[in-house]
Amino acid sequence: MEAAVLVAVSVLLGGVILLLVALSRQTRSVKEPEPSGQEANGHAAPEKQPGKKQKQQKLRKEKLQQHTFSHPLLAASLKAHGGNVTCLDFSSNGKYLASCSDDRTVRIWSTKDFLEREHRSMRANVELDHATHVRFSPDCRAFIACLANGETIRVFKMSKKEDGFTFSAAPEDFPKRHKAPIINIGIAETGKFIMTASSDTTILVWDLKGEVLAPINTNQITNAYAAVSPCGRFVASCGFTPDVKVWEVCFGKAGEFREVCRAFELKGHSAGMCGFSFSNDSRRMATVSKDGTWKLWDTDVEYKKQQDPYLLHTGRWPVSEPCRIALSPDARVVAISSTSDITVFSTRTGAQEEEFHSVHGEVITDLAFDTNNRFLVSTGDRAIRVFHNTAGYRAAIADMKDMLKKTTNKGTKDRLQQQINDAQSTLDTVCRQRN
Ligand SMILES: *[C@@H]1O[C@H](CO)[C@@H](O)[C@H](O)[C@H]1NC(C)=O
Repeated sequence: MEAAVLVAVSVLLGGVILLLVALSRQTRSVKEPEPSGQEANGHAAPEKQPGKKQKQQKLRKEKLQQHTFSHPLLAASLKAHGGNVTCLDFSSNGKYLASCSDDRTVRIWSTKDFLEREHRSMRANVELDHATHVRFSPDCRAFIACLANGETIRVFKMSKKEDGFTFSAAPEDFPKRHKAPIINIGIAETGKFIMTASSDTTILVWDLKGEVLAPINTNQITNAYAAVSPCGRFVASCGFTPDVKVWEVCFGKAGEFREVCRAFELKGHSAGMCGFSFSNDSRRMATVSKDGTWKLWDTDVEYKKQQDPYLLHTGRWPVSEPCRIALSPDARVVAISSTSDITVFSTRTGAQEEEFHSVHGEVITDLAFDTNNRFLVSTGDRAIRVFHNTAGYRAAIADMKDMLKKTTNKGTKDRLQQQINDAQSTLDTVCRQRN
């Protein structure tokens, strides 16, 4: 009798434990060396611009093989994903890069390994789904992922372990609220809200627990891109109409959510928008449109006094969609991807600085600069390409030389000269590899 009860209890307990294990969805971080297999190292032959049709055929063909790419300014190719990479994010402390892929994993890379031979990553499994977008929390103790099938947000806690992290998913995903595919997600640097945007005209502002604070109707017919500003005050969106709309997400003194209100708009393009990007202090924005131009804006305005952003520069880009735009954190450089190519411009002169062709075997899915303006990073196929930001070094040197001419203070002059020398020596090292 007693024995039977004991058996029943232990069977029950066993079941509970199994259930708990299944629910907690623990994923352990595994440090894995990237698969060996060097890419063909022949230097990229100067390419003629292939026609659109030819190019698509070429891409299709390459899908079957492993796409190879090499370029003298390529600092690293990060390989570990077994499927196409769709999104990148740098942690705000600059130490980590997160990537997600349809291989059902999110990987966390250490940025200090970029110039090493081996690039190790830590893996978080996305159980029963895969992530299309990934963003670090401001304190780098969690990340959020947008689930492809679940069409909502899953939060992963990151716990520090000797030489890495362990990851665990929150017990419950956010409720599914979007009626169209999610095109981007974000977390405010203030830690006060999360944003999700879908391809219809909806943006949702959430608290960190998964409650919707406010919906926004962008009224742009369709959303092409939306993002949270790096300062964490604004949400911006663009789409079919030729403008970018910016809202402020307002909180009260005690931190309670108050309202979302219109802040300002960027108006001047003459066709639908592809995307936009902020500088790290949110005082500059770059936009790119199907009208064949990109624009740089000064958004450091008192919009509450009806001041509009100033247009600082208009340049042209090789129109070929899909495209994305990335403004470097210091706002000195703009990079635009079109299908699988990348063009880099100086925002100071508008001049084209670099051009990279067929960087990925598929269309480029994400493009970003690291927090220190040292690298430009792209994704498309399974590899993550890391380029030296030579245009950024050149622009920084030019700016510092201008400042040097204007200063009379000896200490400032010495410091500037030292910074110029350092930047020049880094640039020389990179360019020596190029020649
Ligand atoms: C932006 O980046 C620059 C370096 O380019 C850095 O000095 C500055 O502190 C950063 N600002 C913010 C708000 O992160």
